[in-house]
Amino acid sequence: MKLFVDTANLAEIEALVPLGIIDGVTTNPSLISKQGADMAETIKAICSIVKGPVSAEVTATEFSKMLEEGKYLASLAKNVAVKVPLTVDGLKTCRALREQGTMVNVTLCFSAAQALLAAKAEATFISPFVGRLDDIGEKGMDLIDDIVVMYENYGFDTEVLVASVRTKQHIIDAAVIGAHVATLPPKVIYDLYEHPLTDKGLK
Ligand code: E4P
Repeated sequence: MKLFVDTANLAEIEALVPLGIIDGVTTNPSLISKQGADMAETIKAICSIVKGPVSAEVTATEFSKMLEEGKYLASLAKNVAVKVPLTVDGLKTCRALREQGTMVNVTLCFSAAQALLAAKAEATFISPFVGRLDDIGEKGMDLIDDIVVMYENYGFDTEVLVASVRTKQHIIDAAVIGAHVATLPPKVIYDLYEHPLTDKGLK
């Protein structure tokens, strides 16, 4: 299972990379604006620290503008995965960018039907948001289960990237199901190392 870190904070990424467990990074406009730095410079800096895919999200919602923005983001570094929302225009943009060889992460996925469409649009990654589904009383992990089975049934290449992760249990459940990737906030990554019996054993 690949682990991505869900942050745009360079110091957090620099601290995590030497641990040898980080395969990529996901960002979104909110995470980047929290840093108060230039978006393009931030993406370029992250891409120079991490070799794997770095998701950079478009902010436009209309196809031609999204495509233009996606091409610009892809030009920043070879390992950029352009993040587009799961809308009609977003999936049209996904297909167009994939035809040019650009990695695409389709985000804001909340149903298996949406995930099927993203796979047909040849998304590199589909990002179902488990935490936000849990927040509204649904079982986010059931969606991961459905998508993994559905993609296996038809041999889709799209990787299931579990997003909106809040807890260690989310990662354990996603790994047991067989999701390809999970993106975790730094705090959850450090939580994975923890067990009270390890602390007791050390004492
Ligand atoms: C990652 O790609 C998503 O943007 C992120 O995991 C969303 O997390 P949130 O639901 O905690 O905002």
